[in-house]
Amino acid sequence: MRTITREAPAKINWFLEVLRKRPDGYHDLETVMQELELSDTLTCSQRADGQLVLTCTDPGMPTDGSNLVMKAATALRTLAGQPLGADIHLEKRVPSGGGLGGGSSDAACTLMLLNDLWGLNRPKSDLHAIAAQLGSDINFFLEGPLAWCEGRGEIVTPLPGACAIPLVVVWPGIPVLTAKLFQSARINLTKKRENGNKWHTVVGENPGTWLFNRLEQPCLELFPQVAQAMACVRRIAQARGCMLSGSGSSFYVVCESDKIAGELGEVIKGQLPTLARVFVTRTRDASARARAG
Ligand code: C5P
Repeated sequence: MRTITREAPAKINWFLEVLRKRPDGYHDLETVMQELELSDTLTCSQRADGQLVLTCTDPGMPTDGSNLVMKAATALRTLAGQPLGADIHLEKRVPSGGGLGGGSSDAACTLMLLNDLWGLNRPKSDLHAIAAQLGSDINFFLEGPLAWCEGRGEIVTPLPGACAIPLVVVWPGIPVLTAKLFQSARINLTKKRENGNKWHTVVGENPGTWLFNRLEQPCLELFPQVAQAMACVRRIAQARGCMLSGSGSSFYVVCESDKIAGELGEVIKGQLPTLARVFVTRTRDASARARAG
């Protein structure tokens, strides 16, 4: 029986501006995202009995139809119109509720893996249509590694120049519900809009000096634990760029080398509560994505 494996990378947002609230309750955004080497791993094999069965290394993760992996698999099977089955195993490393896109990336990875495993050869546009129905970040992971995203986040324009940039990524020990943060009245949309156009040309040339996230302030106000952890990490990181990823709770520090990222990661680990998780990683360049398939 054929088994295939693929990495489902996490992401960070280098830039995130919230433009307006839409009639459907979502918000229009402009954001620049890049995949990370930090990733989950998905393994799929065919089942003859037409069932979809998900297993996960994280016992806290639901494996029923509420999991985005199952939603993606079910939607692709419905599109194919055949009683296709698969065993799907998810090795979870990316924290959930962290603004690192873990669940969205798992869903995108599932679509690509099953399209291959089941020999469907569905065009990317079909996968994008499913992705847009299931969430806002899934479309990005069908493209990667670096992209400008608009609309709810589902309109993706890949950007050239993706570099491997060393980072320390911190999950401060509590999840943030994206919906809760967006509903918070504290997102001030009357402020002057931050111009993201510079990202089309400067990515890869010291991004640490260009960071922006409109959701950072409201996240820090709503979640004092995130604010405390970030204040502590900013003291350690000194002048290095440090920014919330997506709606949080994770944030990252941009480092000049892998060595410095490793050293900073150790210092940060020693200063944060034990529940927090610290990842020394890098952004993915184009070759990393090609290797992943
Ligand atoms: O699309 P996703 O499931 O990741 O979004 C979770 C929630 O975050 C949405 O239900 C919505 O409340 C909020 N959201 C938003 N605008 C976006 C993306 C997400 O308001 N562009």
